[in-house]
Amino acid sequence: MTNFPNKSTDTVWHRATVTRERREQKNTHKSVVLWFTGLSGSGKSTLAHAVEEQLYQIGLNTFVLDGDNVRHGLCCDLGFSDKDRKENIRRIGETAKLLLEAGVISLTAFISPFKAERAIAKSLMPPGDFIEIYCFCPLAVCEQRDVKGLYKKARLGEIKDFTGISSPYEAPDDPDLRLDTHELTLEQSVQQVIALLHSRNILA
Ligand code: ADX
Repeated sequence: MTNFPNKSTDTVWHRATVTRERREQKNTHKSVVLWFTGLSGSGKSTLAHAVEEQLYQIGLNTFVLDGDNVRHGLCCDLGFSDKDRKENIRRIGETAKLLLEAGVISLTAFISPFKAERAIAKSLMPPGDFIEIYCFCPLAVCEQRDVKGLYKKARLGEIKDFTGISSPYEAPDDPDLRLDTHELTLEQSVQQVIALLHSRNILA
């Protein structure tokens, strides 16, 4: 399913012989998408990389798709209007789907502010393969941290359409996991994600 009209109508799907199932068997673990969502500065990237580090150390195939990094390449043509954010998340959903087929545990760290686009991304994957992790941190705390100095610029009007200030963030109603990152240590958050993966039989 996609929210875009398909302009490539004269194409025929080619079935791979090396399937996701075969890749998972070879890897001896399942693939899955861990979708981290939350405000800028809520800890998504830090957490995604810390979880990846743990999974990598036990030999799993992982990859982090990070908002700031992806916007240097695949999505460098996109800004922060609603339209561009929707396209950003569409591309990341499709990329995560490819990684799922490739047998990889992908961890996506994007604000992904809109419920509808997160729902579309989820709908691209088989049931249970998209795990939504909400990194909750009050705006005031994100703003106080202001690791990249962007909130200050947004308040001064030097950056427009800034999430939480001049652009909306729609919190998930029913995430698979909510982490209050201002109250938990990084290690505690990592352990909660790992525990979730065990409870979903993604980790043995
Ligand atoms: S999303 O809304 O399209 O999901 P994405 O996660 O890719 O956003 O990018 C967010 C990152 O871009 C932020 O962490 C921040 O470093 C930077 N950024 C630059 N401008 C903005 C803006 N207007 N709103 C939010 N983040 C911005």
